[in-house]
Amino acid sequence: MSATFNFTFDDIPNLERKVAIVTGGNSGLGEVIARELARKGCKVYIASRSHSRAEAAIARIREDIGTDENLAFLELDLETMKGAVMAAKFFMKLETRLDILVANAGLGGIKSELTPEGYERNFGVKHLGHFAFVSTLLPLIQQTADGNVDSDVRIVIMSSKSYENSHPIDFDNVRTTYHSWFAFLTLREMLQRYSRSKLANLYFMRELADLVKDRKNIYVNACHPGLVYTHIFDLSTSPLPWYMQLVGQLEAKLLGINVNDGVKTALFLAADRRVVDKNIKGILMYPGPTDGFVYFSNIYIRTINKLGLDDEARKQLWRFSEAALEKA
Ligand SMILES: NC(=O)c1ccc[n+]([C@@H]2O[C@H](COP(=O)([O-])OP(=O)(O)OC[C@H]3O[C@@H](n4cnc5c(N)ncnc54)[C@H](OP(=O)(O)O)[C@@H]3O)[C@@H](O)[C@H]2O)c1
Repeated sequence: MSATFNFTFDDIPNLERKVAIVTGGNSGLGEVIARELARKGCKVYIASRSHSRAEAAIARIREDIGTDENLAFLELDLETMKGAVMAAKFFMKLETRLDILVANAGLGGIKSELTPEGYERNFGVKHLGHFAFVSTLLPLIQQTADGNVDSDVRIVIMSSKSYENSHPIDFDNVRTTYHSWFAFLTLREMLQRYSRSKLANLYFMRELADLVKDRKNIYVNACHPGLVYTHIFDLSTSPLPWYMQLVGQLEAKLLGINVNDGVKTALFLAADRRVVDKNIKGILMYPGPTDGFVYFSNIYIRTINKLGLDDEARKQLWRFSEAALEKA
């Protein structure tokens, strides 16, 4: 299998009659993913915790593609697994199929706090919230795959290259906040929490892909978008001093790739026909050749590192997440 792909938005096929959800579709990468799927006729639910921000995104997309006929709002707050399950159940009352699910929502430089269910927000929102949302939708996804002989159903999990910096997941640590009087130590812990949540996203994708491996037409994959200057770099609520916030923003602004290139790994996995033709499953895709730093050319399948391939760790995360969901 060729591991490098040339992909443009023109490669997205006609998606009429398909239904998609993009979590965090009201901003940044999620908004552009929603826009390009809707442009090709897909009915896209922008899953967001804010109705007004979702409506604003829908208005911007309408400006661009000329219609908002295919766009809808789905209320989803990933802060709690309970809320995520309710949102998924509500969706299943609205639609009888789900062809594309992009688990994209995320957060970055935030004040360290626990979610109402007692998990540090990086892990709670990015991993546990998505775990609850996607798992609840799985029967509908399977039904969509079964009900249509030629259908191909896609789940795309937004991970990040930063998982490569992660230490193994420590299940006591995910229930604690962090703070240090030394800015450098706070920064280090903030980045580590972010990286671990992205490792959790990767484990979740791999376990999910394993779970449905016998289903011919369900494709579960993960991606890294590249370094892209979005709202995630608004570090004003982070515990970092102003000069560290500035460096973070300048780095993304000056050295990142643009958002239209940043969405290419996700859109390829969500809609490109080559995913089916080449049976692309359980992989992690990066923008090349610099992993989305400074310069963009093609997208490619990246070899997952040793920690990311640790099967026992991913199974342990799955058991932990199931227990957390049960408790919620
Ligand atoms: N930008 C990059 O350089 C980069 C690099 C690697 C990976 N990523 C990943 O790409 C994804 C998208 O990030 P982005 O760069 O597009 O940032 P963004 O513009 O800040 O978008 C993040 C989205 O997630 C939503 N979100 C945050 N907390 C939520 C919650 N509790 N419930 C529901 N939605 C929530 C946000 O909604 P609100 O508007 O309500 O906050 C927003 O729509 C994230 O998973 C991020 O980790 C980004």
